Amino acid sequence: MKFFVDTADIAEIKDLASTGLLDGVTTNPSLVAKSGAKNFIALIEEICGVVDGPVSAEVAATDYPTMLKEGQRLAKIAKNVAVKVPLTPDGLKVCKVLSDDGTMVNVTLCFSAAQAILAAKAGATFVSPFVGRLDDIGQDGLNLISEIVEIYNQYPAIETEVLVASVRNPVHLVESAKMGAHVATIPPAVIRQLYSHPLTEKGLATFVSDWAKTGQSILDAA
Ligand code: G3P
Repeated sequence: MKFFVDTADIAEIKDLASTGLLDGVTTNPSLVAKSGAKNFIALIEEICGVVDGPVSAEVAATDYPTMLKEGQRLAKIAKNVAVKVPLTPDGLKVCKVLSDDGTMVNVTLCFSAAQAILAAKAGATFVSPFVGRLDDIGQDGLNLISEIVEIYNQYPAIETEVLVASVRNPVHLVESAKMGAHVATIPPAVIRQLYSHPLTEKGLATFVSDWAKTGQSILDAA
């Protein structure tokens, strides 16, 4: 499973890239606003220089001609830009044109299996079903991942990858991985949670104190 980080915070991205475990980045207009960045194009360019994998940059318009122009502009920033478009009729028209031109496209705001089928038909590189936001309204977000993976698996010709978005906790990630979702985009705080287990921390403390009792140093050994 590929791991993307869901943030526009360049310091977080640099820190997580240094782990060697990061396969890409997703941003959205809300995350860009939260980052405080004043030059979106420069921000995406900087992120693309830090991470080799796909970097999702979302269009701001909602009408076809403007979204297409914005998408083409964003695609020019770097080869690893994935243009993010909303799952609307106009968004999917843009997806088809850009995909046919060889640009990666991430279709976002997917909340149903029917929408995911349309995204695949439009040639999306990624479809982003929002798990957490479905849970928030009392629906089962993970069930949507299961449905989309099952449907896509019926058609070997579909190359669209299921990018699990709106991930709120490690359970969302683990359950999506069990279903065979290709990618998860994860907020930095949840990525850090993945490392954590109380028995790891407790066990390590014991190893460190027991090692000290031996009075040895591996690096000073003859
Ligand atoms: O980037 C899209 C998605 O991951 C947003 O998540 O937490 O705002 O529902 P959230």
